[in-house]
Amino acid sequence: MMKDASPQTIHLADYTPFGWTVRDVHLTVKLSPRATRVVARIHFAPRGDAPAQDFFLHGEELTLLRAAIDGAEVTPEITPQGLTCPVPDGPFLWESEVEIAPADNTALEGLYMSNGMYCTQCEAEGFRKITYYPDRPDVMATFTVRIEGDEPVKLSNGNPADSGAGWAEWHDPWPKPAYLFALVAGDLRNHPGSFTTKSGKEVELNIWVRPGDEGKCAFGMEALKKSMTWDEEVYGREYDLDIFNVVAVDDFNMGAMENKGLNIFNSSCVLASPETSTDANFERIEAIIAHEYFHNWTGNRITCRDWFQLCLKEGLTVYRDSQFTSDMRSAEVKRISDVIALRARQFPEDQGPLAHPVRPESFQEINNFYTATVYEKGAEVIGMLKRLVGDEEYYKALDLYFERHDGDAATIEDWIRVFEDATGRDLSQFKRWYSQAGTPRLSVSEDFSEGTYTLTFRQTTPPTPGQPDKAPQVLPIAVGLLNPNGHEVVPTTVLEMTEAEQSFTFEGLSAKPVPSILRGFSAPVVLERDSAPEERAFLLAHDTDAFNRWESSRDLARDCLVAMVTEGAAPDTAWLDGLERVIRDDTLDPAFRALMMGGPTQSETAQVLHERGHVPDPDAIWDAHESLRQAMAERWQDLLPALAEEARVTEAYRPDAAQSGKRALGSAVLALQTRLDGGKAAEAQFASADNMTLQLSALACLVQAGRDEAALRAFHDQWQDDRLVMDKWFALQIAATTPDKAPERTAALTEHPAFDWTNPNRFRSVLGALAMHHTGFHAKDGRGYKLLADWLIKLDAKNPQTTARMCSAFQTWKRYDADRQALMKAQLERIAARPGLSPDTGEMVSRLLS
Ligand code: ARG
Ligand code: ZN
Repeated sequence: MMKDASPQTIHLADYTPFGWTVRDVHLTVKLSPRATRVVARIHFAPRGDAPAQDFFLHGEELTLLRAAIDGAEVTPEITPQGLTCPVPDGPFLWESEVEIAPADNTALEGLYMSNGMYCTQCEAEGFRKITYYPDRPDVMATFTVRIEGDEPVKLSNGNPADSGAGWAEWHDPWPKPAYLFALVAGDLRNHPGSFTTKSGKEVELNIWVRPGDEGKCAFGMEALKKSMTWDEEVYGREYDLDIFNVVAVDDFNMGAMENKGLNIFNSSCVLASPETSTDANFERIEAIIAHEYFHNWTGNRITCRDWFQLCLKEGLTVYRDSQFTSDMRSAEVKRISDVIALRARQFPEDQGPLAHPVRPESFQEINNFYTATVYEKGAEVIGMLKRLVGDEEYYKALDLYFERHDGDAATIEDWIRVFEDATGRDLSQFKRWYSQAGTPRLSVSEDFSEGTYTLTFRQTTPPTPGQPDKAPQVLPIAVGLLNPNGHEVVPTTVLEMTEAEQSFTFEGLSAKPVPSILRGFSAPVVLERDSAPEERAFLLAHDTDAFNRWESSRDLARDCLVAMVTEGAAPDTAWLDGLERVIRDDTLDPAFRALMMGGPTQSETAQVLHERGHVPDPDAIWDAHESLRQAMAERWQDLLPALAEEARVTEAYRPDAAQSGKRALGSAVLALQTRLDGGKAAEAQFASADNMTLQLSALACLVQAGRDEAALRAFHDQWQDDRLVMDKWFALQIAATTPDKAPERTAALTEHPAFDWTNPNRFRSVLGALAMHHTGFHAKDGRGYKLLADWLIKLDAKNPQTTARMCSAFQTWKRYDADRQALMKAQLERIAARPGLSPDTGEMVSRLLS
């Protein structure tokens, strides 16, 4: 089963097309848990425009039973990666039959079983575990799939063609790469729906779930319909098959997958009900449903030439789903939340040993590059492009993209050329965003004389692995100016910075203005600006840009926390006063005020300390955060009950922006109240909660207050049969506990009978929660590191993908003190030295150690 021991590095520069085209693929899949037979009939024809090469088909962990070319048996040469075989000069029919064992497939890649149901995950390179095939995204073909088995429901891509007793046939008329292949079979129930496209075509919709989960599909179905409408209205994109199926699967390595006409979802990303899902879950489900649906055009109709181009579909689709969420909910709140997530996940990646460009130039295991950089920074790059060319030109370029590349396996060069052709701009410098890794640092100085205000910017990007020197990038810097009375005198203007150092002037001002820089976080950079606290407070009070209003408070919070950690300073009361005015302002969206109350996470404080040249001390960070929260609670003692009252929802539960904003404010308030009343209010909320949002936020407070025994037991007894809620139960007790207890609680929970560690959701809910508990994970004696490493080693033997992904918990290891560094390094070396370590994890650990 082991792959070749010496991992191969693949380079973008080595791209060569496959030597044949595939006219069509016919698969017959005879299901059986340990002896599934896959019969393939594939028509190949040589392509004149490809370099001469041997005929090679990918194939891994397959037992070849027979192979034939044009009806004559052949005996291919087989390696662990695939097969080669002499073939005729002209077109030919390839036939093969292989045997596979889905029930033994714990890697959850290819065809596998989850709770008795068959399902597939083929992106990026899983199809080669199903049959021999040129498993690369630039080989596209139509598929006809016959599924044989007793399972009542049998699904594949495209439209249903025919079915009978024990078999079903599907035909997908759209040529597609193998990574979009999917097959599902099992005892499933559907939640049906339908949609009429703008040109009047009826589409059958279904969400397929395990028996018992039927009641958790309605929200996903509505989200799907909204996504279909939105893509028609905003991008002019219609759906293109008679049927669209979504399936929920419990065992899944990531969020969801956009297989053509048959999206497969981690059940946590589609199943929802008010009793079992939080507001955050609902919002995420809506976004992921949209994301996978939007892939039908950005990903499926136009796919990627090779895996280096992954951001072509992912960056664009994340950008599209963020536009969708902004339209469905609050654009301002969405932007702030996206930036929080970008800083939490992408900045550490971009500033550490795992840094890579949005379009990487080499990899060993492509699964290791489904990263925050490819996805989230990839989306930021598109946002910048739109800011630079303007909305109208952006949609003009997108229309051209769909028109020119429909049916193609395209590249970033194609994408850039579309924008150049549609807008007449030269984007060669902009393209550096795709090739240069690292987060640019942007510093600013200002000057005012005789009515002219000058802003001078400097940009530098620190070195990243393999990229010591960086060239200046194009930065759209959105700026507005306020006069000393707090009135906006220059509305938002996008300055286009292209040089390493560049000045911009504003004329005709009667007084020195206060600048609001990088409005809406117009470029993914670290803004270095030592402005006076009074100026930040002024922006907190007056800025018209909601993002920068939030940001100015966040900046003050960061400064405050840095001073508390490094100098033992007291909490900054001037900032707390300014913040209080915002929080009290009931004309503002409660969701926005909740975000303002939230404050930086401890990892964010660590990140900021690192950016400012300090070595973060996790224990000192914990103490500073604790005393700041305590100071907030005491200071706002009289305000909290009024806010709690305002946050109360009296109507029936709806997971919409208005209600969830109120609940978000309520839970921010409850967290502070708990510091004053020891958990009394939380206990009351826990007892009366009729939805998961209120129940869980109350439970978090009780854990935090150390008053959780009875509540945890009650919650467990109430929800022990619901896997998704039990994931929350596991995660919360680690996330909300004190640092001294975090590793022990994690260790104890791994002994719990419900800790099914082969389920990726459950594994992440326990070990992932430890990795995210900043102080707990970084326990001084290294027991957090060791515990995580023990479990990563154990999981790697079963599921390399999830293991490799979770190694990124160590990505910031070089920031910490020498003792912690040594402890983390020792664990990484221990993982690296493991005999039989998967290439996936091997690559991650060696990059981390390099
Ligand atoms: N294309 C999927 C999505 O973003 C994710 C697939 C992830 N695959 C992987 N091997 N990690 O919607
Ligand atoms: Zn995607």
